[in-house]
Amino acid sequence: MIRVLVTGAVGQVGSDVARLLEGRAEVAAFDRASLDLADPDAIVRCMRELRPRVIVNAGAYTAVDRAESEPDIAHAVNARAPRILAEESRRAGALLVHYSTDYVFDGTKAGPYVETDGTAPLGVYGATKLEGERAVAASGCDHVILRTSWVYAPRGRNFMLTMLRLAETRDELRVVDDQRGAPTSSLALARATLELFGADAARPLGADDVACVASRSGLYHATAGGETTWYGFASEIFRERQARVPSYRPPQVIPIATRDYPTPARRPANSVLSNERLGAAFGVRIPAWREGLREALSALG
Ligand SMILES: NC(=O)c1ccc[n+]([C@@H]2O[C@H](COP(=O)([O-])OP(=O)(O)OC[C@H]3O[C@@H](n4cnc5c(N)ncnc54)[C@H](OP(=O)(O)O)[C@@H]3O)[C@@H](O)[C@H]2O)c1
Repeated sequence: MIRVLVTGAVGQVGSDVARLLEGRAEVAAFDRASLDLADPDAIVRCMRELRPRVIVNAGAYTAVDRAESEPDIAHAVNARAPRILAEESRRAGALLVHYSTDYVFDGTKAGPYVETDGTAPLGVYGATKLEGERAVAASGCDHVILRTSWVYAPRGRNFMLTMLRLAETRDELRVVDDQRGAPTSSLALARATLELFGADAARPLGADDVACVASRSGLYHATAGGETTWYGFASEIFRERQARVPSYRPPQVIPIATRDYPTPARRPANSVLSNERLGAAFGVRIPAWREGLREALSALG
């Protein structure tokens, strides 16, 4: 079987990718304790000892606000680590699948962003992720970069779980209504990642599948269909929750402006991404964001 190295394997996306790969590939899943992405030597050692055919780099420094005060560690994990993974992939002839973010954009475009649109990150997180994707592209290795957005799962640190937790103690939640994007469930993104290698979700990955993906190397947007605001997302979370549990008393959700919710990092007002390129190249389409939300809430029970 094809050997696949997955980094960030206890993160939202990494854990779903590793789980979906079970039985379809020889999975080597590494969390921070077993492979520290801030340690360049550890990355090189791991790549050379393991000799994976495919690397799925789901590990990242994702604390958008904290990154403003920890730029060095954010850079090490989001920019330097992908560069080293890419250099090692090139050396070994391996394929690197890497994730990036909608926060590479400044959000001033009116419509959905396409892959060729100019980038202008507003914060450290977006800037370090942009440097990472550029390093991967420049390395010359076979690669697929998937830019995604607003990732959530029934576990981990994310907006959906934060809303549900806050609702336990508050009757009223004020949520930003002037930032648009596409909430993307980690499971839907993980499925889309594996679909790059073929639509049959049961068959083991073959060398031909990997070669086929490698032949379409490049940058792709990969987000759930549709768009909303954080307020719209929060409202839908509570609406769906109540539909499942009729006795559930949702809080009142009040729309507010970004300027009334100051955060250390600025965020784009519009980070809706067009997924047309992904669909055209791979025939992959991530379902509408509400569908992913329903699935994630069902998994919560
Ligand atoms: N989350 C989002 O809203 C979002 C939006 C757009 C793009 N993305 C991108 O999507 C990808 C997957 O993100 P995600 O949502 O799955 O994030 P996540 O749940 O935060 O997972 C990231 C994983 O990376 C690990 N990590 C952090 N520093 C590390 C280090 N030094 N060495 C090894 N592992 C380290 C984290 O471990 P710890 O738990 O120990 O910190 C965590 O398990 C990332 O490339 C991210 O930039 C995410």
